[in-house]
Amino acid sequence: MGVIVLFGSLSLVGCIEEDGAVGVVEEGATAEGLAEPAVLTPDAAEEGPYGCGAALGTPVDGGFTQTVQPEADSLLLGAPDVPVNPHLVPGADAAHEMMLVWQTAAGTIGGRAQVGFAEDGLSWTIPGVSYAVAGYRIHVVRLCGLASDRSWRFRVGSDNGWSEVGSFTTFPEAGVDTPVRVAVIGDTRNGPASFASLFADIDAAGVDLVVFTGDAVGNGTNWEEWSEWYEAGGTAFLHQPLLFAPGNHEGNDQYYFAQFPSHTGVGHQAIEAGPLHFSVVNDNPTAGVTLEAEAAWLAADLAAATAPWKLPMWHKPAVAACQPHGEDPNNRQWLLPVVDAFPEVRLVLNGHNHNYERSSPYRGGQVVEGGVVHLTSGGGGAPLYTGSYGFDYSALQVKSQHWVLLEADARTLNVTAYDLAGNVIDQFTLVR
Ligand SMILES: [Fe+2]
Repeated sequence: MGVIVLFGSLSLVGCIEEDGAVGVVEEGATAEGLAEPAVLTPDAAEEGPYGCGAALGTPVDGGFTQTVQPEADSLLLGAPDVPVNPHLVPGADAAHEMMLVWQTAAGTIGGRAQVGFAEDGLSWTIPGVSYAVAGYRIHVVRLCGLASDRSWRFRVGSDNGWSEVGSFTTFPEAGVDTPVRVAVIGDTRNGPASFASLFADIDAAGVDLVVFTGDAVGNGTNWEEWSEWYEAGGTAFLHQPLLFAPGNHEGNDQYYFAQFPSHTGVGHQAIEAGPLHFSVVNDNPTAGVTLEAEAAWLAADLAAATAPWKLPMWHKPAVAACQPHGEDPNNRQWLLPVVDAFPEVRLVLNGHNHNYERSSPYRGGQVVEGGVVHLTSGGGGAPLYTGSYGFDYSALQVKSQHWVLLEADARTLNVTAYDLAGNVIDQFTLVR
């Protein structure tokens, strides 16, 4: 199938203020061979979701312990406390899995989730696991067996106190041509006011998933900063599942691993989300793991993925011109050759540089038709960077706090970046 991408604005610029440059695209493909969306009924989830927390990976850093939660209220040990910082983390199969995560006092070990199709119909009560982390307890209920492409309601806690009712929508089945919407944002550290504004816009847009490119906080070991981050996100965290690529500022800390439990315990993970496959690399490898090993995992994951769009993601760009960080030499050495080896990879997501940037289609060290667009979204609130190394493969840099909307079906991937005021600062489309 032909692959044609045309960018309307390829002028080489430095980090510019609120530039309105717009990239564009075209070219059609047929819908032949695509499955129609399935018609879902309540009967599709007749058996209901179930807890599968025992399958969680064991975080390798920090030495904290995982506790299987008892179901009986009589085993509650802590004082009555309402869950705080509840949030959603997508499971590996986003059509059927979701993790519900929250925090309580360290002594509260009897938490569970109540899940259903409506706020007044939370039919299933499901226990999970918890982590004792430096004076707190972080609870995780991993839901499996969810019906796909449905809106779900939930609350978390115990009879000692419940969260507000949240909601999420499971992704369509892989191979079903239902459009999905995903937000990209990163590098929010030290900028909670901007993050709050951008995340409110993301919530209003009603996306199915938020992809976070790393560096939520300045110091991953500081619980106060994490709490400030959750406060800024507000109730949006109850409605927007968040897929997180750990940044250097998370520091592989126990707080990060407990709040965003990955399936591997080392920070890399893959999820299937309708027509999208995200391969999240931890480019700050944990102790005993090399970047070479992360690259090998990425190669194997991309080779096994069958989704129409394969989207590798990690924190520090391998292709970027924005000063001072520019592109990371280690990621350029180990990760760039991997994505270049897969013609079906067309977009890579990164953060770390506090601006918006996208490369021209780039593969094998040169700008080529059908190459990979390397997109930096690192303007979630952190102080913005200026300056450019002027690499000729950098198509656009915009010094602006922003978020990015991905709208995808099996053959088209629309990308639109918005600034704090809601202005479009870039737009382009990839077509398979
Ligand atoms: Fe960073």
